[in-house]
Order: sequence, then structure tokens, then C-alpha cells
Amino acid sequence: MLLFTNASQVVTCAGPARARRASELGDCAILTNAAVAIDGGAIAGVGPRDELEQRYAGAERVDCGGRVLMPGLVDSHTHAIFGKPRYEEQELRAAGADYMEIARRGGGIHASVRDLRSRDEEELYGLASGRLARLAAYGTTTVEVKSGYGLTLDDELKMLRVARRLSESQQVRIVPTFLGAHEIPLEARATPAGRADYVTSLVSAMIPRVAADGLAQFVDVFCEPGVFTVEESRSILSAARQAGLHLKLHADELRPSGGAQLAVELGATSADHLAAISHDGIRALAASETVATLLPGTMLFLGKDRQAPARALIEAGAAVALATDFNPGTSPTTNFPLILTLAVSQLRMSVSEAILAATVNGAAALGIADRVGQIAPGFSADLALFDCDDVRELPYWYGDNRCRATWVRGLACHVRTEAQARAGNA
Ligand code: NIG
Ligand code: FE
Repeated sequence: MLLFTNASQVVTCAGPARARRASELGDCAILTNAAVAIDGGAIAGVGPRDELEQRYAGAERVDCGGRVLMPGLVDSHTHAIFGKPRYEEQELRAAGADYMEIARRGGGIHASVRDLRSRDEEELYGLASGRLARLAAYGTTTVEVKSGYGLTLDDELKMLRVARRLSESQQVRIVPTFLGAHEIPLEARATPAGRADYVTSLVSAMIPRVAADGLAQFVDVFCEPGVFTVEESRSILSAARQAGLHLKLHADELRPSGGAQLAVELGATSADHLAAISHDGIRALAASETVATLLPGTMLFLGKDRQAPARALIEAGAAVALATDFNPGTSPTTNFPLILTLAVSQLRMSVSEAILAATVNGAAALGIADRVGQIAPGFSADLALFDCDDVRELPYWYGDNRCRATWVRGLACHVRTEAQARAGNA
């Protein structure tokens, strides 16, 4: 048993064990003079320090040193398994090339696919575990990890096996997603029937195999003009649902195509990106259980002058989550607190809205809001300690790493020494 005391604030995010909406997002439930007791990997109690010190007199103490204690961040959208970075595309975009144009020339996702196919599982595992450690160093305790740079059965299974090894060997909680529908592979684009054949192979071979091997909890599709159409996305996700997997959708990222409505129609757990969502899409999400996951780092990094309409979504009543979209093409950052900065400064969210979107609603976007995302009795002891007096400093010191330590299931995960903290090193 551990008793966390002497936090300047305990940001509990406590409340209903489901996604928060509208005015519910206005209160992330901050306690002062509070303590948190954990036992056997779960939160045992949270409340006034004096009371908990009496109740858990025998517990080992963790002195929070006047810092902010909160639920670990839940990053519900990443492509954290990849080979080489793609920095050359950043300069191409600066010179006027568009993201989709780079993809049409065989770069973009295709470049990562070529590279990933040439690497073995061991090498990918080594690269991904380093990147996971960096995500954890910024306060993240749950990471969704997508496949999608293999685009053949064997290469996709290779990626998902890496995800499984990560979840067995690392403390961070991993949620694996099959994204075989990330692109139409170049070899399939080369023949007239290739495109339809690839969709058929996803539906009748790849999804059933991934489900049978228990390698993914979600299936995702990049539904976007020029990639998968709404019709193709519908047939792929219907097959996934039939195989017993949960659904996600890259929807209305760059151009509107009705992706948000499709996600709602199919009962997807989340619709992600949404920078180009229509009014109908906003209304559909607001009236549904589907979480609207916003990824402001992507639009920033692509140099777009537009962001997802977070205020309209929240005011319509949609359940908004935030995530990094960590990937080599459009969002090469492991810094989740930086995404909170963008949420407040670009998406015009309040700090409370941003914090709940990155914890409780991130968990809801992964179907685990009943056990992850809040400091409340019975929830998993997934905690993050930040070198701040006030939680509003988290989005404020933008780009900084203020994370001092994290715990996952009650066990220390990332720990930063005093010297590293002073120097600002992860
Ligand atoms: O979420 N949009 C599709 N997938 C990723 C980008 C992947 C890549 O460019 O490698 C995204 O932005
Ligand atoms: Fe993505």
C-alpha cells in the first residue's frame, strides 16, 4: 500500500465512469490538502490528507513535494511503431508540396511502408520501446498503438506482434489497433483490380486472422478522399464488427467526406481528426456515444491554418478527447502536454476541458473509462506527477517536460531525478 501526500493539487477527474460532455467538462475536480491511497494496483482512497493518514497509517509514503498529482495521460491515437523518421517531407511541405501530393508521389505513408517492410520484428521492437519510453516521460500511462505501415498480412502481423511484446514487457498500458486500411499499398494501386482486391483481402483474410490471434482490440480505417472511400470504409469496419472487434475511424481529417457520420452509423468507439468535419457530422457525433478525438498536433505540424472545431463539438454535446497522433509523417511528437497547450491556445478549450479530454475521455475512446482515467476508488492506479503548483501550468509552459514521475497499475513507470528535472531532461 502507498499513500501519496503533500501534492499542491490532486486533480482527480472523478465523476461518472464514462465520457464527459458539455458542462461536465468544466470541472476536473481538483482537491487541495488531499492524499491518495493505492493498493494492489488500484486506487483505494482519495480525500482529506488527515483522514487518509489515519486510515492508512501503516502505508508507505510518497511525498509529492508540493507538485500536481493527476491521472496519467491517456493517448488514444498513436502510430508509435515505425522505422525511420520522415523529416525530408517537412521541408517539401514548407516549399509548397501538400501532404496528399507527397503520398501520390509514393512518399508519405508509402515511404514508411517500404521502410517497415525491410525491418524485422526485433529491430522494430527496439525502436518502438525507446519511443514508448519517451511518451511515458511526458506523463502518458496508456498508449493506443496502431499497425498500418505493413499493408500485407505478414507485415501487419509483425507490427501487432511488436505491440503485444511492448505490452508484455513495458509498464505503460498498450491498446493495439489494426490499421491495415491505412493506405492502398502501391502494388495494389498499380493494377485495375488491385484496389478492390486489397479491400477484399482486408475483409476476408486480414481482419479474421487478427481477430483469431487476439492481436488487436480495434480496427481503424483512413477514410479520406484519395485513400479509402466511405463505402470501402463501411465494408471494412462491418467485417471488423462481425469479427468481434471495436471500431475507430480516421474521419474528415483533410477534406469532408461524411466520415464522422459513418463512425456514428457503425457505432464506432471514436472518430478521430475531424478538422474538416461538416455541421451534420458535428450533430451526428453529439447525438451518439462515439468519442470525437481531436489531434491538434497534426494540423500544426502539417502547417494547416485550420483546426478541428472543438468549441462547436463541445457546445453541441459531443464527447471530445485529445491525443498526440504520434507518427513519423504528420505528428512526430511524444509530448502530450504540448497537445494540451494547442488545445487551450488553438482549439480554445479550457484547461479543465483539455485535462478531462486527455484522461477520462481518452479512456472512453479506448473503451476503458470504467477503470482508467480518474483518481477515484477502484480505478487503476495510473498516476502522473508534474513539477507545477497549479494544473494550469501544464499547458502554459509549452514544450517543457514537467513530468516528474508516473505510475501504472500502482508501479513506478517513469521516474526523473532531481538533476534531470532541473536540466529539463526527460
Ligand atoms: O493520423 N492520416 C493518416 N494517418 C496518420 C499519418 C500517417 C503518416 O503520414 O505516416 C495521421 O495523420
Ligand atoms: Fe492517425
